[in-house]
Amino acid sequence: MSVSTHLLPNATSRQDKNHTAPSRPVVIVIFGASGDLTQRKLAPALHTLASQRLLPERYAVLGVARSPLSDEAFRAQLREGVAANARVKPDERLPWETFANKLSYLSIGYEDRDSYQLLAQRLAALSAELGSDNVLFYLSTPPQLYQPIVAHLGAAGLAASESGWRRIVIEKPFGHDLASARALNAAVHEVFDEEQIYRIDHYLGKETVQNLLVLRFANAIFEPLWNRNYVNSVQITVAESVGVGKRGGYYDQAGVVRDMIQNHALQLLTLSAMEPPVALNATALRNEKVKVLEALRSTEPREAGACSVRAQYRAKNGPTYRREEGVDPRSETATYAALKLFVDNWRWQGVPFYVRSGKLLKTKTTEIVVRFKRVPHLMFAKDYASIRPPNSLNICIQPDEGIHLTFNTKLPGAGMRTQTVDMTFQYESDFGDELPEAYERLLLDTLQGDASLFARSDEIELSWQVVDPILQGWEQGLAPLAFYEPGSWGPREADELLARDGAVWMSGCAQF
Ligand code: BG6
Repeated sequence: MSVSTHLLPNATSRQDKNHTAPSRPVVIVIFGASGDLTQRKLAPALHTLASQRLLPERYAVLGVARSPLSDEAFRAQLREGVAANARVKPDERLPWETFANKLSYLSIGYEDRDSYQLLAQRLAALSAELGSDNVLFYLSTPPQLYQPIVAHLGAAGLAASESGWRRIVIEKPFGHDLASARALNAAVHEVFDEEQIYRIDHYLGKETVQNLLVLRFANAIFEPLWNRNYVNSVQITVAESVGVGKRGGYYDQAGVVRDMIQNHALQLLTLSAMEPPVALNATALRNEKVKVLEALRSTEPREAGACSVRAQYRAKNGPTYRREEGVDPRSETATYAALKLFVDNWRWQGVPFYVRSGKLLKTKTTEIVVRFKRVPHLMFAKDYASIRPPNSLNICIQPDEGIHLTFNTKLPGAGMRTQTVDMTFQYESDFGDELPEAYERLLLDTLQGDASLFARSDEIELSWQVVDPILQGWEQGLAPLAFYEPGSWGPREADELLARDGAVWMSGCAQF
């Protein structure tokens, strides 16, 4: 049963700063320009922004990578990426040539000092052409190159300018554990100030993730209930239906905790649990997120077995992680994890936050389910005496973006039987338009100098501090590796983790 929403007239204008093009010219330098991310995300996002006139009037994109490529070949490569992946296709709203003319390429050795002199010359020429010296560096290379690139940029004097701004975007993974994240932060801080650094987590660029802030802090009805007095538990699911594909080499070193939980899932948790920030700016927002991470109960490696489950996909006659290309046939890397976490503060004392993520699961869905407590005394027949409580708020981050609130009603007819119904808001039916891609929003924010949706150094280190002991426990064999069928919801052990608390996983969005 479903009760729908529809849009009410809104007095505020939809034109905010994020719908306005930054006015100052800029050069965007992409390190790793011949790589997959540039093809799939960066070039498509830039092209869509350009098509919507959301980039400054004067801009240039300089691709930098090792492969020797002519400007023409680079443009042709990006055209393919844009045609395959962009929301706005070449020539749809903007002649491809107009965009292509902004693109150029420079082949460099990432660890070769002379290459950075060449880069400096090229930047000087581009800046002179554009009449401004604003430069955005985007690191989309393998992570082991981040430190050398940053050091070379510093040594070549490219991290600062007298007449413009310099900013740097750093892709995930930011570190491999707490120690390496600290070392990377320290190395980047040697060259760039914190205000110049944008550590990207593309989940923060998703519309529905940003909407968490609006849902919680632009409505008076949820906040009074958003605490231990009314909330039974919170579940965060980041499920993928794809396997590791061609990324086996990378993934086998990373695993699900480093790939999805330390960053994306913990970002969802902090936004769900944080206190209201005093203002919508990078400092206020990130201060509140940091407080949640500080309050996350620290575990000891020896407790890993009690608060986590790790598993791998394995099928008798089907996809099996250990048989994937680039994966060690005896690999112990987890492709699925479930964690039970607690936020030790006044608001959340005693409320479990269950977090799970995995590859090759039943369906792709990212969702947050806030389960409310049952009524203290029920005078009706216990029709719903099942383990599911009647009240939950299901925030569907993707792919069926929307929000569902469930509550009990009287089943029509004789007697007083109850039935749980669902009140629904869906982006597609209410807003129609296709949602912007996360990278579009985040790239625009970097150009506007708004770091609200990027991770600060302390945030990154604290999130590693949360997962490090669990990973250590796993490495010490303190949580046995479980297995799950591809296409399932994960291993039996993950159900047992919740069953011990009398709970079940709710794939809320899939059930509506
Ligand atoms: C990336 C991970 O950060 O996020 C990938 O490295 C994962 O393994 C991807 O597939 C999922 O992103 P999305 O936006 O499709 O949920």
